[in-house]
Amino acid sequence: MARLENKVAFVSGGASGLGRAQSMTMAREGASLVVTDINEAGAQAVADEIKSAGGKAIALKQDVTIEAGWEEAIATTVSEFGSLSILVNNAGIATGGNAEDGTLEDWNHLMSINLDAVFLGTKHAIRSMKQTGGGSIINISSIMGLIGAAGSAAYNASKGGVKLLTKSAALHCANSGYGIRVNSVHPGFIDTPMIQQIFDGPTGDAARQHLIGLHPIGRLGAPQDIANGVLYLASDESSFVTGSELVIDGGYTAQ
Ligand SMILES: NC(=O)c1ccc[n+]([C@@H]2O[C@H](COP(=O)([O-])OP(=O)(O)OC[C@H]3O[C@@H](n4cnc5c(N)ncnc54)[C@H](O)[C@@H]3O)[C@@H](O)[C@H]2O)c1
Repeated sequence: MARLENKVAFVSGGASGLGRAQSMTMAREGASLVVTDINEAGAQAVADEIKSAGGKAIALKQDVTIEAGWEEAIATTVSEFGSLSILVNNAGIATGGNAEDGTLEDWNHLMSINLDAVFLGTKHAIRSMKQTGGGSIINISSIMGLIGAAGSAAYNASKGGVKLLTKSAALHCANSGYGIRVNSVHPGFIDTPMIQQIFDGPTGDAARQHLIGLHPIGRLGAPQDIANGVLYLASDESSFVTGSELVIDGGYTAQ
């Protein structure tokens, strides 16, 4: 039996990188997929790929910073597939800036996508899942939610916020008897469009080697490495796991 048989999974930021791999992986394991992104064409392409491989999927245009959009997208999920059982709060952006020079405008923009939206998604998923017997909420944080980096003040703060928001939501759901588990995932550097900017330009190769060197396992992560962890947290195999931090970083934070 497929590991996500009869489950309905919603992935924000599903058009690219990690979200795309999560969507494809969960669909292969039998879940019906709702792929959302601010990039509508990209989300549609992922949903089409799932359908042409024999899976079930719809694509929705969604800006995760808008609360009414969450309510609408979850209502569409329920009317299309009957319930919502898995939410991956995956959409995110990475912009640099240290604690001395960053602007409040840049800080607020990043927070609205990386932290406020995770709150909104979690809130509305709980409200839906508690009516249908529970579910699994997976929040994509980062190793940057566990350790600091001088040039990533807002990103560090947002991902650290995701880590503890996850624990608060997990405890609330457990105390309430909702049957909803909430966990965070902490990837190291994964080869996706998000980190491609680091490799552009004449010093790109050196930057790649430097980054690889920070991962004791000797390579950058692949989107599938993270999708495999998300699949575990999405499935009933992790039924005793809530409020936890799944670190998938090739040993980056072990040293
Ligand atoms: N790539 C890495 O090394 C890495 C490491 C740790 C954590 N992460 C986290 O993983 C998640 C996915 O990152 P990725 O590497 O796949 O990046 P990516 O840039 O490839 O994909 C991010 C997706 O989010 C979408 N998005 C951005 N703003 C949005 C908004 N307001 N509403 C809806 N969608 C929006 C983008 O259109 C894009 O499709 C992010 O939360 C990121 O912080 C990535």
